[in-house]
This record gives sequence, structure tokens and C-alpha cells, in this order.
Amino acid sequence: MLRKSRATRMLTALLLTGAVSTQAQSQDAPYLNPKLPVEERVKDLLSRMSLEDKVGQMTQAERGNIKNLDDVSYYAFGSILSGGGSVPADNSPEGWANMIDMYQRETLKAPLKIPMLYGIDAVHGHNNVYGATIFPHNIGLGATRNPELVKKIGEATAKEVYATGIRWNFAPCVCIARDERWGRTYESYGEDPEIATMMTSIIDGMQGNLGQPGTVLATAKHFVADGGTALDSSTTGNYSLDQGDSRISEEELRKIHLPPYKAAIEKGVGSIMASFSSWNGVKLHGHKYLLTDLLKGELGFKGFVISDWAGIDQISNDPAKNVREAINAGIDMVMEPNNYPRFYNTLLSEVEKGNIPMSRIDDAVSRILTQKFKLGLFENPFTDRSYFNQLGSQEHRDLARQAVRESLVLLKNEQVLPIKKDTAKILVAGSNADDIGNQSGGWTMTWQGGSGKIIPGTSILEGIQKTVSSTSKVDYVKWPDPDQAKGYDLGIVVVGERPYAEGQGDRENLVLGDGDRRAIDNVCSAMKCVVVVVSGRPQILTDQLPKMNALVAAWLPGSEGQGVADVLFGDFNFSGKLPITWPKSMDQVPINVGDANYDPLFAYGYGLKY
Ligand code: GLC
Repeated sequence: MLRKSRATRMLTALLLTGAVSTQAQSQDAPYLNPKLPVEERVKDLLSRMSLEDKVGQMTQAERGNIKNLDDVSYYAFGSILSGGGSVPADNSPEGWANMIDMYQRETLKAPLKIPMLYGIDAVHGHNNVYGATIFPHNIGLGATRNPELVKKIGEATAKEVYATGIRWNFAPCVCIARDERWGRTYESYGEDPEIATMMTSIIDGMQGNLGQPGTVLATAKHFVADGGTALDSSTTGNYSLDQGDSRISEEELRKIHLPPYKAAIEKGVGSIMASFSSWNGVKLHGHKYLLTDLLKGELGFKGFVISDWAGIDQISNDPAKNVREAINAGIDMVMEPNNYPRFYNTLLSEVEKGNIPMSRIDDAVSRILTQKFKLGLFENPFTDRSYFNQLGSQEHRDLARQAVRESLVLLKNEQVLPIKKDTAKILVAGSNADDIGNQSGGWTMTWQGGSGKIIPGTSILEGIQKTVSSTSKVDYVKWPDPDQAKGYDLGIVVVGERPYAEGQGDRENLVLGDGDRRAIDNVCSAMKCVVVVVSGRPQILTDQLPKMNALVAAWLPGSEGQGVADVLFGDFNFSGKLPITWPKSMDQVPINVGDANYDPLFAYGYGLKY
């Protein structure tokens, strides 16, 4: 059957009901008047919206799943997103702007002309876009204990996101990582809520004076206690923490996992993303007490709650039940990457059956429209292309390099650091010395990230080579055998993890790979050595620690690896402190500051200086 255009269908409905409201959006319609208070604009627009218009606003489709461009005007999506790595063929600022402006033009063909809000994960810079500045992941920013620096990173990230026509960032993750085995530990600022709370400064950076050029909507995620899940290998037989069950008291939930959300709400965060995880067996995506009574009632959150990636489908095997429970629990917009027609029609049907009150729909839509008006999206729905030069700007790269420096934590130093720049012969080794993909970690160009030269920037080895004097000789051998580790004055062994994201990063153990372990043995037995760990979380290396003359935690520094050499060679001092406990062995994990019998290799907050 030839599908009627949405406008025709709408007009037909209006004619049939006799309410032949013009619905014409003459420019004097109050909701189109930016001089009016947001509340008035929301009220006026809501009064003009059909149930279909409202359901459209609550639907977020994934760009790769939109097979039919006229779906965009037909459904008039409230939002479209790019999941990790979901990029236009032309992955340049112009390519992004052209794609998003195309979707916006289509969206504005719908009668009410409500602009679409495009969302993306720019969790350590605009990490899907080639050439963007890639900042250290949150675990490294937590080590800086510098909220002002992190606010500036929020400003820089927002400008690079804004430059591509995107006005909504699914960041920051304010998760509190309580188990180092969790694959999202590096997305956390640390194990104690004090750090994530102070780092909500990034929201001030991103949202600024919301609606001004260069500002984007922030998202505090994933509400709540996503980092507090228990190891669960019982059910699936697999080993899993991510999206698991936080089996904790309400007192612990409030003490450990809630504080950063209070801070984010005080800062006016525009959206909050629900967690995939459960609390004592109940999925967050269907948890009315937490999403509505606590978040919107007690904490007074006035923004909107977005679900996670098909997260409502985890509630049960019944799509209607999932929609009903999620929306009634307090989800306002549904991230529906797979089947937006099913979600849209199911929500329409559940409201028409009376299973979801119109008051809940109106509350959700009002929350969404409020943020769109605050963003100035109705007045400026298209990309401001004057910002293209913000992508990977030298100013932003310098800021990222500063963040790398301040994120480094000195854990051991037997008078080998700082390294003299005129050291005659230096051997650099290890899997992460010359791999900008590994030093950037997950959520870089793709969802999982990847090894190799996947982005422009400076590897740690390149930073070392640029820092030493012209008379120095720097050799790089990834995993040197004993013969290759002869005749050098100093060794720098850069070890650690390969990229991963979310559950794919859950690990039963955190020991270094065999190649890196051999590199430490061969280099450190032949010369003075500095070991640098590039990882998303602590690595178990206690048995090899005595062989190391110095040990540095570098986390996941991103594109500006020069920051590591800046400190190793003494141009800057160390200032970082552990944001997470460094265990002696896997037997201690999970281990957190405040635990009884707390006896780690290096304690939360530990960090030496020159
Ligand atoms: C992912 C993550 C969430 C992200 C979303 C969209 O599964 O859980 O952090 O914002 O999907 O990419």
C-alpha cells in the first residue's frame, strides 16, 4: 500500500475529527517565538501536537538503521544517533555536517517543524571523527584531580562536536568503578564518588551557557550503580560484570553511586542515560522508584531520561511490556537502534489502550522540548560550519597534552627519573610504546577501538624521540630478546592493554601479556629501566616490580602521547594520584579504599613526585 505522507495522514485525521486546526506554523505561533519563556513555548507546542507527534519525539533512531529517508519526516524522530563507529562515508567535519543537515531538512518537512537533536558518544574528544583531538579517558582525568582542566576539556570537546552539526553528547560517564575487572573501568573517573563528583565540571564545559555557539547537551550516565555490579558467571556461564546486577543496599547506592548525579543535576545536566544494569534483580530501565521517585522526584531532575542502546528490550521478551514498563518507569526517550517502527507503533498502541497515561507522554515530551528550546535548536537547526577549524586544533591538542602530563602517576622511582635528555643510548620496548590505537583505547574511531595508527597524533615513542638530544640514540624493539637488550644506558618499557569497550573488556585477570612480561624481564635485567603501563585499569605486576627501577601509570592518554615524555624527561613534574586502588593480586579484587584489611600494592590517592 502506498504509504501516505505524514502530513497527509495528519491533515486527514484533523479533517475527520473536525478539528480543522490549521496547525500551520505561521511564524507568529508562540512556540516559534524565541523571545517567549521556554515554558510558554513548550505549552503552546504541546497543545498543537498529535499523539503521533509526541511519540515521534520520544523515538531515537540510529542513522545506520534508517533505510528510507522519508521515514525521517514520516516519524519526525525526536533524535537520531550515531553509535560507536557509525560514521558517514566522508568522515570529515563537512561529511558529518552534510549528513546531519540532510536529516534535519527531512525532519523539518513535518508540519510542526520540530528539529531533530543528533546524539553521539564523544567520551574522550570527538572520538568517531578522524582528526579530532583524542583526550585521555576518564580514568586518567580522574588521576589529575583537576576539575578546572576537565572543564576546559568539556569546552574543547563541545566545540569539536558542535563543529560537525551535533548538539548532544552522551557524556560524561559518572560511573563509579568498584571492580577493576569491569570493561568500563576506564570510562570511570575512579572508585570513590569524590572524583566523579568534582569532574562533573565537564558538564559546565560542555553545556556552558546552553544555546550559545559551541555548546552541546551533556548526558550523565549510566543511572545508576552501573559500576557496582557483582561478578556473575552463574547464569550465562560466561564471565560477566557489565550490564550485571548491583547487589547492594540502598544506603551503599546512595553513598557510592548517587553523588555525581546530584552534582550533575545541580549543574543543570540536560539528559541522563539509564543503565543497562539491575539493582537487586530489577532492571534500571524499568525501575520506577529510581528513575522517577528518586531521580525526578527527590533529586528534582528536570531534563530528560534517555534509554541505553535497545536497553528496554532487556526488561522482558514482550515488546509491549517493555515499552509500557520503561515509559511508565520514567524513560522519556528510547534509543531504538534496531526497530523504530515497532517501538513507535507499540508506544502508540499502549497509549491508545490506556496502559500509559497521556500525562506521562506529555511529561516526557515536555522534558525533551525544553532541552531543544534551551539549545536554540529551533532557531539554529543546521550546522555552524565556521567551527570546522576546531577539529583537532593545536589549542585542543596542547590541552590534551597537558591532561596527559597531569594524568601520569609515579608509583616507583629509584633515581632513574627524570631521564637526562642527552642519555646516549635508550632502548624503548613494549606493546604500547608505538601504538596510538592502543594508547587511545576503546571508543576511538570504532566502538571497540583498535591497534595501530588509526588516528593522527603522537605515539609515546615518537614523543620520546622528539625529546631526547640530537646526540642520543633511541632504538625501538617491541619485545627484545636478551641479545637485543645489550649496550644501552636505559630502557623504557611501555606495556599494557589492547583496546576494548563495555562487556568485551570484562576480564577474569589483569596480568600483563607474555610478550610484555618478557620485555620487562629482558630489558630490566640488562639495564636501568622505566616501566610505563598504558591501560584502562591497574595491571597485576607485583612479581616483576623488584626488577623495575621506576614504574609509571599512564592510563589511556589518547592522541597526544608527547605528554608522557614531557614528564619522563623532567620538563614537568608528576602530579597524578591513583584514582583507583592498585591490587597486589587478583585475590584482592574487587578492592576499594575504605575496605576492611585494605592492603593493596599501591593505595587509592598514591602518587610520587620528583
Ligand atoms: C552503548 C553504551 C552507552 C552509549 C550508547 C550509545 O551501549 O552503553 O554508554 O552512550 O550505547 O552508543
